[in-house]
Amino acid sequence: MPADEGSLAHRRHVPSRLVAVESLTDHLDLDKIFGRRVPLHVDLGCGDGSFLCALAQRMPDKNFLGIERLLNRVRTSARKAATLDNVRLLRMESFYAVRYLLPAESVERFYLLFPDPWPKRRHHQRRIVTPDFFGSIHAALEKNGSIYIATDDVDYFGKIREVAESDPSFAIGDADADLPQSRFGLIFRQKGSPIHSLELRKVSPVK
Ligand SMILES: C[S@@+](CC[C@H](N)C(=O)[O-])C[C@H]1O[C@@H](n2cnc3c(N)ncnc32)[C@H](O)[C@@H]1O
Repeated sequence: MPADEGSLAHRRHVPSRLVAVESLTDHLDLDKIFGRRVPLHVDLGCGDGSFLCALAQRMPDKNFLGIERLLNRVRTSARKAATLDNVRLLRMESFYAVRYLLPAESVERFYLLFPDPWPKRRHHQRRIVTPDFFGSIHAALEKNGSIYIATDDVDYFGKIREVAESDPSFAIGDADADLPQSRFGLIFRQKGSPIHSLELRKVSPVK
């Protein structure tokens, strides 16, 4: 068990929700991690875990994995998830986790809420949404699985749409408005910023 996980559980007297990664090249053993086999939802860059935990509470019959690279946010999420048996947290770079750690066809739905927009042109190459990223998402999704994406950044949203439209392995559909607020979603809504969202559904090749 990583030191962080142990000390967190000890200090706060909460069950640990952190995934202990045993290998950086083998797929995660999701049955072992969750102790049951039900559909999996994954929140990429889950921040403080508000959205992840609210959704997990609404859907106790599904497993929820939050992926986040910042330790403090992972710790905050883990505290929020203390009473939720269906939530686990993975401290990892999202794209790496999707590409190398999630088994093929293991995810029913991904959420990518307010990904860092990197607004300066010279930083655009740091944005997570690329054709490659969508390729890995497609491989990890179950048949008919989907990814829900929301952002307040209109330029980034346009680019995401462009990448999606040029990828025939996804169908662009209406985004589900009946979702809990994430922390950043709440902040942007309170500021009156328009939120742009879409849902991409996996299209499997006809065999
Ligand atoms: C703007 S915040 C949004 C947080 C949350 N989704 C929400 O809506 O409240 C972006 C989050 O994604 C995390 N993040 C950004 N890039 C990431 C990456 N490549 N892998 C994992 N986490 C990432 C950041 O640390 C941050 O917590």
